Amino acid sequence: MSSEAVYLVGGAVRDELLGLEVRERDWVVTGSTPEALLKRGYRQVGASFPVFLHPETAEEYALARTERKQGHGYHGFSVDFHPGVSLEEDLERRDLTINAMARDARGGLIDPFGGQEDLDKRLLRHVSPAFTEDPLRVLRVARFAARFSHLGFLVDAGTLQLMRDITASGELQHLAEERCWSELIGGLSAQTPSVYLDVLRECGALAVLLPEVDRLFGVPQPEQYHPEIDTGVHVQMTLDYAARQGYPAEVRFALLLHDLGKGLTAPEEWPSHHDHEKTGLPLVRDVCARLRAPTAFRDLAVIVSELHVLCHRAEELRPSRLLALLEQADLLRRPERLEPFLQACESDFRGRKGLEQRPYPQTNTVKAALEAVAAVKPASMELEGLSGEQIGLKIREARIEAISHQRR
Ligand code: CTP
Repeated sequence: MSSEAVYLVGGAVRDELLGLEVRERDWVVTGSTPEALLKRGYRQVGASFPVFLHPETAEEYALARTERKQGHGYHGFSVDFHPGVSLEEDLERRDLTINAMARDARGGLIDPFGGQEDLDKRLLRHVSPAFTEDPLRVLRVARFAARFSHLGFLVDAGTLQLMRDITASGELQHLAEERCWSELIGGLSAQTPSVYLDVLRECGALAVLLPEVDRLFGVPQPEQYHPEIDTGVHVQMTLDYAARQGYPAEVRFALLLHDLGKGLTAPEEWPSHHDHEKTGLPLVRDVCARLRAPTAFRDLAVIVSELHVLCHRAEELRPSRLLALLEQADLLRRPERLEPFLQACESDFRGRKGLEQRPYPQTNTVKAALEAVAAVKPASMELEGLSGEQIGLKIREARIEAISHQRR
């Protein structure tokens, strides 16, 4: 039997060679067995793969394995691990050459598939034709493209063709929602989210995974407000703006969906999109249900889609309309939504060609209105003897008065 050896693999080797901070270290163990690791105090995680946590560092150690596809989806894999599986065999089952390098215990680089050369060439290239065995890799490559685009990385033409093949085979439909969701959020959270959408469009996957977003490309908007004209390009610009500001994933997800209604406008009405913030709402809900988006993500996406146009008009709104905006967004009961809601509206306003620096005083106006309203305390008001309806009216009046007073 071959003796045991441990190698650092995957993202840690790649990021170190790129001069980036290494966030997580994954290890591969050859020449060993689950029993041997368990005996030394490693804890097993995951039922289908032989992955273990180190007793002290809690880093992931996986036994070298090969994988072969059998049937659809994530569970359609036959996994083979035994002490004879070599490091090279384990690296060969991996997605990209830049992810298929290892370091041995003495720090030597093991790079059987030209990962370092591809790093130098700034190329995201598949390791082998087995790339197509896992459809999630379509989303992974798009995510890496979005993450490393600022360093000059591009997707290799042959790899893009394999991504088109996977899409055409219908395999994307077999992806589990939770795997899709975390990849989508990963892509939107990358440094250049627009590239994520570009790559998914190029291989046809956007039309399968998010047809409501794909449809926005080619839909014109009025040049006066949107010098970039194309709605899909506008969505990309809002995402890149949010990324530059470091806004969180839920804001980016809301931006992805904020203009879905524009994809429903009849071409005869282009470039105007009357009521798009309302017509898009059922689509936003559909997408969230399909992707099983967490409630907080869904709720933010819904209010951003419904209220972004109203928020842009905050400066000109009468106090009663400003109050209605706060009520519709449920900001009185859910003040934690205020910040992300305003971040999304600001990103929409500034995610337009040549208008990225425009002032957005609406942020402060809405914040001040909410503060003024929150300071109204019904407990200190004269409400005795009034009906429920009258009480409601009185509180409303006091809130409107508070906003007017604050704006004077
Ligand atoms: N991998 C793969 N195919 C997948 C998922 C993972 O080939 N569908 C391989 C890649 O070699 C990858 C490694 O498993 O490098 C670890 O996966 P993961 O932690 O998801 O990615 P990292 O490359 O470590 O990137 P990150 O920095 O995002 O964690």
